[in-house]
Amino acid sequence: MVETAIKIDNVSFKYRNADSFALKRVTFDVIEGEFVLLAGFSGSGKSTLLKCLNGLIPHFHAGRFGGSIEIFGKSTLESETPFLAKQVGFVFQNPENQISNLTVEREIAFPLENFGVPRNEMKSRVDELITLLNLEEIRYKSPYSISGGEQQLTAIASALALNPPILVLDEITAHLSPVGAVRILNLLNELNTEHKKTIIIAEHRLDRCLNFVNKLAFLEKGQLKIFGDIQTVFQNKEFPESMLPKIPSLFLKLDEKIGLSKDKTNTIPLTVEEFVATLK
Ligand SMILES: Nc1ncnc2c1ncn2[C@@H]1O[C@H](COP(=O)(O)OP(=O)(O)O)[C@@H](O)[C@H]1O
Ligand SMILES: [Mg+2]
Repeated sequence: MVETAIKIDNVSFKYRNADSFALKRVTFDVIEGEFVLLAGFSGSGKSTLLKCLNGLIPHFHAGRFGGSIEIFGKSTLESETPFLAKQVGFVFQNPENQISNLTVEREIAFPLENFGVPRNEMKSRVDELITLLNLEEIRYKSPYSISGGEQQLTAIASALALNPPILVLDEITAHLSPVGAVRILNLLNELNTEHKKTIIIAEHRLDRCLNFVNKLAFLEKGQLKIFGDIQTVFQNKEFPESMLPKIPSLFLKLDEKIGLSKDKTNTIPLTVEEFVATLK
């Protein structure tokens, strides 16, 4: 039976010093195994909503919280932080904020140490994650000396250390090169499809992950404007034109579907409706 992994019910939040609510009555569910993309312009409340999912809000941010969030049926308000840490792995936009250890290996082991996992078990889990994320070459390096993409991979490995069923990631490709971003997004796809992780990601470059995501939630000024599968969201007139994927990726998608040559696709205009049709 498929369970509801995250139940967001009528959630509002106002930071203590803010004039207005950062989230206003947001309601939607994430089903176990889904890959959900959270979209919205800067300041629309994406990070605030994600912080609600692992209890950072309201446990560590002062403010007014209304509504409820349940993770596998358990309210974040009534959950202790260790329970939430085991359910929800979190990766922030800026990996340097998450780094605190001397080597990549220690960084990945950190949550396990916090939970008092026995040494031999810790070692095998770290080995497993290093192999899964292909981090052998940087294993003994300082997390401060590696590239931004490698730092994000390290942060993802650390977020996976306790093997949480849910992974939450906040604009993690923002500072990465296109190649670095694609590597990370492909990894997330693998974690979703092969390792059955439920994933919710805020990402403003939609075109980079459209091939993977099941659902899209569009936030505007703290309100959930549209929620549904990609076709539904793109066809909704309230979805901003400027946020639709850029033309090259539309071409790419069509190219994949009907096997046009690159040169030819570049000369064929594709409307949103046509693009949506290629997804079906
Ligand atoms: N720590 C904070 N204190 C007060 N206001 C905040 C804080 N963090 C974010 N906000 C405000 O909450 C709103 C939503 O911000 P945020 O969740 O960061 O949006 P996004 O991630 O979509 O850019 C914005 O108006 C922002 O200024
Ligand atoms: Mg943000």
